[in-house]
Amino acid sequence: MNNNFISNYSDKLFSNIEINAKKQSLRIAFINFIVGCLWILLSDKLLEFLIKDSATITFVSILKGWFYVLITSLIIFLLVFTALKKVIAATGLLQKTNAILEVKIKEQHKAEYILKESESRLNMAQELTHTGNWELDITNSKVWASGEAFRIYGINQKSPYLPLDFVQSLIKKEDRGKSDSALKLLLENNEKYDIEYSLIRVDDGHESMIHSIAKVEFDENGIPQKVLGVIQDITMRKLSEKKIKQYEEETLKNKMEHEMARLQGLSLIGEVAAGIGHEIRNPMTTVRGYLQLLGSKEEFSMYNGQFSLMIDELDRANSIITEFLSLAKDRVVELKVQSLKEIVEHIFPLIQADGLISDKYIQLELDEVEEIPLDKKEIHQLILNLVLNGSQAMSPGGTMKIRTFMDKGDIVLAVQDDGKGIAPEVLEKMGTPFFTTKDNGTGLGLAVCYSIVARHNAKIDIETGLTGTTFFVRFKN
Ligand SMILES: Nc1ncnc2c1ncn2[C@@H]1O[C@H](COP(=O)(O)OP(=O)(O)OP(=O)(O)O)[C@@H](O)[C@H]1O
Ligand SMILES: [Mg+2]
Repeated sequence: MNNNFISNYSDKLFSNIEINAKKQSLRIAFINFIVGCLWILLSDKLLEFLIKDSATITFVSILKGWFYVLITSLIIFLLVFTALKKVIAATGLLQKTNAILEVKIKEQHKAEYILKESESRLNMAQELTHTGNWELDITNSKVWASGEAFRIYGINQKSPYLPLDFVQSLIKKEDRGKSDSALKLLLENNEKYDIEYSLIRVDDGHESMIHSIAKVEFDENGIPQKVLGVIQDITMRKLSEKKIKQYEEETLKNKMEHEMARLQGLSLIGEVAAGIGHEIRNPMTTVRGYLQLLGSKEEFSMYNGQFSLMIDELDRANSIITEFLSLAKDRVVELKVQSLKEIVEHIFPLIQADGLISDKYIQLELDEVEEIPLDKKEIHQLILNLVLNGSQAMSPGGTMKIRTFMDKGDIVLAVQDDGKGIAPEVLEKMGTPFFTTKDNGTGLGLAVCYSIVARHNAKIDIETGLTGTTFFVRFKN
């Protein structure tokens, strides 16, 4: 019901009332006129006919005028009363109708307001998500499209209708077949319509990627009437997915190249170490022996301090060579099928007894893991190096966690510290022989770990952040 209709309706009502009022007034005037005329013409004759006595006639003639006024007043009263009664009843009805109309108009305004609000919300949501909707009227092949659908098409026009042929012509040639057959299958077999295609925008000719889904509406006889569909512009999503994939591929490539370089470096150093290690150790053993011998002599007693310093330094050099030797690629490993968990349990008292990690706590969380071929001595060395690094990264009172568990079929050893994490530039170089950030470090600890891990066909993953670092060693089953 719109405002025009209401004003036409009330105009008509009022003009009807006016006509009726005229009719009623004319009727009253006419009746008054006729009764007056009849009175004038007939009253004297009637008197003469009814009354023979001339004195009475004269008397009645005097009263006749009053009598006429009385009768006509009575008649006019009755006529006006009935007419006014009708007018008042009609006015009451009109007022009632008016009140109902007012309520209805208010309700209509409210409904219109709510509708407009929800339309604008829908529009906003469509704009934000780049999602438009469309309806195809099968009877006339016209497509109604929402504002956002028009934006996706790159069309600016007032009418929300477009011919189906035109909409189909916006789809990139290579994808038209796909879209046509999807629509055909939807209409003929009510098959799921869920496709992605490229669209060429009308305004700038750019290509957009579209995801479209649709369903059919049938009439009571099962004949398709309408197709209701939704289109979403997924160009940005597709682009980001592509970029993420590229980035992941590049990162993986870089990581692999880095790993290869590290392994090559390790094996080269290992080969050199194996070659010269023994040659250095033998003369060193001789020197150490003579130092010990001379140090025990009476005449050199004042140099005792210097002798033991030299011996300590030789021992330190020897331990470096020992570690260095373990980098050799073709070092013989003694693999025996055993449990990683048991190896950790075995070395744990040694770790705790070690003065290096006093004032730090170590927690064990050891799940049962499958047994695999392991070189016990090497795994001891691996755990020790990781635990030492972790403990050196922590402040006094810190807690370290050593875990064993199964993950996707892998047997995992995790050493977690609560230090400050590792800076990216350190992370990048870690494992390179002789790379260290410590004053007394040799930078061989992790290099040894990597070579042990390589000999066990395992790998090391590192997770690091401001709350600490975890080294995961994953052994394949
Ligand atoms: N858990 C860790 N937290 C923080 N930094 C670490 C951790 N583990 C290793 N690093 C860093 O990696 C570097 C190399 O470690 P690596 O064990 O190879 O040598 P190092 O500990 O310096 O010397 P050493 O030969 O005595 O072990 C360390 O100097 C340190 O900067
Ligand atoms: Mg170390």
